[in-house]
Amino acid sequence: MEDIVVKDLIKVYKTGKSEVIALRGLDCSIKGGTILAIMGPSGCGKTTFLNIIAGLDRPTAGSVKVGTENIVDYTDEELVRHRRDRVGIVFQFFNLVPTLTARENVELPMRLARKDAKSIRARADELLSLVGMEERAKHKPDELSGGEQQRIGIATALANDPPMILADEPTGELDSDTGHQVLALFRRLRDEYGKTIVIVTHDHRIGQIADSIMTIVDGRITGEVSGEEFHAMTLEKARSPPSHS
Ligand SMILES: Nc1ncnc2c1ncn2[C@@H]1O[C@H](COP(=O)(O)OP(=O)(O)O)[C@@H](O)[C@H]1O
Ligand SMILES: [Mg+2]
Repeated sequence: MEDIVVKDLIKVYKTGKSEVIALRGLDCSIKGGTILAIMGPSGCGKTTFLNIIAGLDRPTAGSVKVGTENIVDYTDEELVRHRRDRVGIVFQFFNLVPTLTARENVELPMRLARKDAKSIRARADELLSLVGMEERAKHKPDELSGGEQQRIGIATALANDPPMILADEPTGELDSDTGHQVLALFRRLRDEYGKTIVIVTHDHRIGQIADSIMTIVDGRITGEVSGEEFHAMTLEKARSPPSHS
């Protein structure tokens, strides 16, 4: 799997006369086949960062190298191919098409990529079984629980077998147990399929699965620790008695 190396990323949103600087020179590197978690307060630039790596938005300046290619230099067409072939995106609110069944949602990205009917069917079977949703395949999203919808969201992101999975607060709408199952699924995607995964999350259990955890404050990376260190810090905090100050 290819590494992703981000240098001096800057994003300025201009709306009318006002400007918002969402990223102020963000540097980071993500090793292929690992899980990077990103944490940080609301409005610090997490979604902006993910959207740029996903090829959904362009930065104002800076570079994003995937392997040897700088995607910032891509034409619009190349960026479409990047989105279709290289990345799968998992959203907080699942982003399923409400009129399609679970199976049809999983099949949709493959239809858009013009795969043949037989391989679409086989791949959908494989993915529904991977996320444990074979039994619920004929249901529409509103007949599924949040956790089930997110598992379909993950299967959909995996449809065209992209090397990178980008997830923006994927457990934000889920209860604690269901959120844990979804995190465990990301761990399998790394361990068994070698995916490179970037997860924006507020869930401290991410320390149990992530290889490293970065903090973004005000559009810059302010710290990075390994998953193990983060997990140890979380346990430490849970053990220390509440302060009475
Ligand atoms: N499309 C946009 N137009 C203008 N400002 C935006 C846009 N998207 C995000 N912002 C602003 O950029 C900053 C970073 O936003 P975002 O990346 O969504 O943060 P986070 O995901 O960490 O909450 C915020 O101040 C936000 O209001
Ligand atoms: Mg966000």
